[in-house]
Amino acid sequence: MGTLNILVLGSAAGGGYPQWNCRGPVSQLYWDGSAHVQARTQSSIAVSLDGAHWLLVNCSPDIRQQILTTPALQPQTGLRSTPIAAILLTNGDIDHIAGLLTLREKQAYDLYATPAVLEVLQHNKIFDAIDRDFVPRRAVKLGQRFEPLEGLSVETFAVPGKVPLYMEDGTPDIGAETDTTIGVELTGPDGRRAVYIPGCAHISEAVRTRIEGADLLMFDGTLWTDSEMIDAGLGQKTGHRMGHISMSGDDGSIAQLAPLKVGRRVFVHINNTNPVLIDDSPQRRDAEAGGWEISYDGMEIAL
Ligand code: MLT
Ligand code: MN
Repeated sequence: MGTLNILVLGSAAGGGYPQWNCRGPVSQLYWDGSAHVQARTQSSIAVSLDGAHWLLVNCSPDIRQQILTTPALQPQTGLRSTPIAAILLTNGDIDHIAGLLTLREKQAYDLYATPAVLEVLQHNKIFDAIDRDFVPRRAVKLGQRFEPLEGLSVETFAVPGKVPLYMEDGTPDIGAETDTTIGVELTGPDGRRAVYIPGCAHISEAVRTRIEGADLLMFDGTLWTDSEMIDAGLGQKTGHRMGHISMSGDDGSIAQLAPLKVGRRVFVHINNTNPVLIDDSPQRRDAEAGGWEISYDGMEIAL
């Protein structure tokens, strides 16, 4: 016990890669059988210190498939059990919460989220299918440390974001730093520190400070360029409007985070339009030259 083990369960953004209804240039490579791309499920990581008890950070609609491909998350004892001891949500987006509906069979685990995200669950009656007698909903306060697993210290912090798409009412406040969208700092018993930020509209001073000196950063890798979805004819929205900073350019995450001291930097939550998904693309090479790794489903990181 002691090593912080992190598994990337799903490395893609909402929709996964390829997206089921998409023939955009990057998704089409998969449908055509290209050897340069691999399928990816939707955004989630699992964290453990002992390999027996796991914290999921976010619970994607693909959780069942993720469990099928991850022996560590399969039941190990008795007639009914799960190594999933706790789940922490970083926002109320569908790709981060819909998997809860799959984990509803009167199985005990702790569900942690901020008051804003708990309110979203509260207002969507379908989540009542997850029996509170088995799955207590625990409110997480920003900046207040808690231990969802023995020895694992977690602190959450606001990151620039917005309300979930399905909660938008008019034009949302993009980049608000509230408990609607959070980042997570995970610290093991030996003080090694991972920072997980799957969605971030821009790099604020607070985000910069939080990342500085981390042993591992897992960061929003949704888009390569802000207008990528518009340019591909796949949508009308910029990345910024969706609450995501892009990787490239002077304002992008690669440049903005370059001055910070970080052990390993890994992109997560990668959208199906992002050319870094293609193994040998120029964008993949640029990201790697900037010191970044592109996560994939099943990626294991031991700190
Ligand atoms: C996002 O990350 O912007 C959302 O997950 C989009 C969505 O709800 O599909
Ligand atoms: Mn998302």
